[in-house]
Amino acid sequence: MWVKRKRGWEIPERESTPEAVFHNRRALLKAMGAMAAAGGAGALAAAAPAFADADPSAGLYPAKRDPKYTLDRLVTPQKLSTTYNNFYEFTTNKDVYEYSDALKIRPWTISIDGMVEKPFTLGIDDLLKKVMLEERLYRHRCVETWSMAVPWTGFPLKTLVDMAKPLSGAKYIKMVTFMDPKMASGQRAFFYPWPYIEGMTMFEANNDLAFLVTGMYGKPVPKQDGAPLRLALPWKYGFKSIKSIVKFSFTDRQPVSFWTALQSNEYGFWANVNPAVPHPRWSQATERELGEDTRRPTLIWNGYGEYVATMYDGIKGEQLFR
Ligand code: MTE
Repeated sequence: MWVKRKRGWEIPERESTPEAVFHNRRALLKAMGAMAAAGGAGALAAAAPAFADADPSAGLYPAKRDPKYTLDRLVTPQKLSTTYNNFYEFTTNKDVYEYSDALKIRPWTISIDGMVEKPFTLGIDDLLKKVMLEERLYRHRCVETWSMAVPWTGFPLKTLVDMAKPLSGAKYIKMVTFMDPKMASGQRAFFYPWPYIEGMTMFEANNDLAFLVTGMYGKPVPKQDGAPLRLALPWKYGFKSIKSIVKFSFTDRQPVSFWTALQSNEYGFWANVNPAVPHPRWSQATERELGEDTRRPTLIWNGYGEYVATMYDGIKGEQLFR
């Protein structure tokens, strides 16, 4: 008899959060309330778990904040956003930081290939020398209905697109996470379509908001959050923001992502945030900010409509919000 087994990705966040974690978070937040209100990276970093201190890029942080990107809420304390994560390569639980030390982040080579003038590879530290880092405050909304607000450091994805010199026929970018089951025990689970893949249109990649992240809270991004290079697409559900990227392929075919390959009726290509379009198994109307007790209404496009909504005007007959 076939029994439907609920796996991690099938459980809404409110059901998947262990009580103990929830209560710890409340206690912690009480203690940190004043610090969070200050909003500065330095203040928030004070009580947080270890960061990659040995990271050779540490001297590049903190970068200047871009004042254009503001929040309607407090920055999430670093202790919360770095101890409640999704990174299935290491575990399907939220305590990724307990396992992610195994991630080896140097040397780290990034390949640019597919429909580009000339494919090339470059190391993360060479890439960091070629870009101008800035800090941006972004909201981040997981499809599981938890959310956070983070000071990311990085550079616009369009800087990398320009470096890649895509051919005119390239319509999409497919991004790929490392594949190393010896290092990342989660990748030994055969029922997942490893490696983690995500994709977006060239139009989206060139949008001002599309941001490649190398740092967080004024330091190199910690391993559990996707070191040494991850994406932040704040108007989309968090699963589009792929971590620990090793490849950018330019293509004329819509990429099939990890989640779409796993469960296409639940996780689509566009995945733009919309409170009015429920996930097939739970509502998206509200969200719970990490550390908060009460839920707040979710904003369409996660509040970034002024930057992104018109990109989708001409798209008909597609599920833009799943
Ligand atoms: N990238 C990889 N490679 N593996 C993952 O499991 N999880 C995604 C996304 N990127 C994931 C990933 C999901 S579901 C979310 S919500 C965000 O990362 C979580 O980012 P955070 O842990 O930094 O909050």
